[in-house]
Amino acid sequence: MANYDVIVIGAGPGGYVCAIRCAQLGLKTAVVEGRETLGGTCLNVGCIPSKALLHASHQLHEAEHNFAKMGLKGKSPSVDWKQMQAYKEETIEGNTKGIEFLFKKNKIDWLKGWGSIPAAGQVKVGDEVHEAKNIIIASGSEPASLPGVEVDEKVVVTSTGALSLGKVPKKMVVIGAGVIGLELGSVYQRLGAEVTVIEFLDVITPGMDPEVQKTFQRILKKQGLKFVMGAAVQKTEATKTKAKVTYKLRKDDSEHVIDADTVLVATGRKPFSDGLGLEALGVEMTPHGQIKVGADWQTNVPGIYAIGDVTEGPMLAHKAEDEGMAAAEQVAGKHGHVNYGVIPGVIYTWPEVANVGETEETLNAQGRAYKIGKFMFMGNGRAKANFAADGFVKILADKETDRILGGHIIGPAAGDLIHEVCVAMEFGASAEDLALTCHAHPTYSEAVREAALACGDGPIHS
Ligand code: NAI
Repeated sequence: MANYDVIVIGAGPGGYVCAIRCAQLGLKTAVVEGRETLGGTCLNVGCIPSKALLHASHQLHEAEHNFAKMGLKGKSPSVDWKQMQAYKEETIEGNTKGIEFLFKKNKIDWLKGWGSIPAAGQVKVGDEVHEAKNIIIASGSEPASLPGVEVDEKVVVTSTGALSLGKVPKKMVVIGAGVIGLELGSVYQRLGAEVTVIEFLDVITPGMDPEVQKTFQRILKKQGLKFVMGAAVQKTEATKTKAKVTYKLRKDDSEHVIDADTVLVATGRKPFSDGLGLEALGVEMTPHGQIKVGADWQTNVPGIYAIGDVTEGPMLAHKAEDEGMAAAEQVAGKHGHVNYGVIPGVIYTWPEVANVGETEETLNAQGRAYKIGKFMFMGNGRAKANFAADGFVKILADKETDRILGGHIIGPAAGDLIHEVCVAMEFGASAEDLALTCHAHPTYSEAVREAALACGDGPIHS
């Protein structure tokens, strides 16, 4: 048994970042983690491995579709799935070991095992009870289940199983056209699978800018992804190697069946707090099973905090990281802060899709007058040279004050470009501020400037 200032439960991006900041602020810190490796879902079975597979499969796509155009002749590479998996595993290992190194460097103890909270101020790991002045829960989320669909992680898989399939399937059905479905659907489509995405709504990526949704779906269709829209999946029936997916079209209630070698269930995630003993402690929860926290990330039980996916808000690694840093500052007696109005969202397909702040829909709902500055990547020299001219940048700014309220990008490096808009928004910048900033030529970021110019006297290259 040991005494700590802080024990963080969970070593995902929320938990490990929180622990590092706690240690940097002089607090004696431990992290409880039951996995064999640190990093949580993100590093082990989420963001990092999926980005490795997206990167590898994108290189294949480039070789197949664009190399010859640039005078690079030769046979396109074939897929060595075992090697690609090894590359993915190495990527994971490099990152999880990196966190272990950071823990050592910051003198953070890793309490190996699954933790529970027998009482405020105590964390139990195995048979040992540790004392902690503050407990920060960062236990994350898990895939949500779907009635009639039994996941075996071999034929019917969640994102976890989809990252480690035994082979590239010939036919894949993806349930849900959200972030996970489209990222992993893209991976397998590029690697040669016939991918059909079944989506309950009539649009993909709900909540995104409608123009982005339409453009994104058009581009994905052109790449070969098939979509069944407005369809509710009723059930899956799986054997050891195949599955049948039954869905009903909402427009006429007709029932259809589709075969697949692999079915990916990507219909959302739910907060994970099983086994922590929250009910006995009387920790207040939301109706959606999230831990309720105040503006200081503290629960209704003094000394117990919660951050990341297990709380309300978008289930994003970087949201959890920011809350982790802010909660650490609170515990250390400082003033942690997260600006929930400026949290970017990124989909790492090709092209990438990124957004921040308000959409036209949310602004209309607020009755706020706005203007739109839009610029197509077709007018961007660098994008044209790189066969990456599909898509656009759209900036929404207040009609009167010109203050930037939101940004929506579909195109090359959208996930990096969006941060220019984020920084501008953090500083309360106007579209003119962004438009008057010199941008290097030729870069993709000129498209962001042109969209800002489009909020004023107009872009140059369109
Ligand atoms: P999601 O909420 O993004 O999308 C789920 C989709 O499934 C929605 O379009 C929904 O309409 C559809 N759906 C729900 N029930 C259905 C049914 N019965 N039949 C057909 N379609 C149905 O959830 P997803 O993709 O599973 O991601 C989970 C979480 O993980 C999200 O919060 C996401 O933000 C996060 N994530 C973020 C990533 C990123 O930032 N790049 C990458 C992966 C996950």
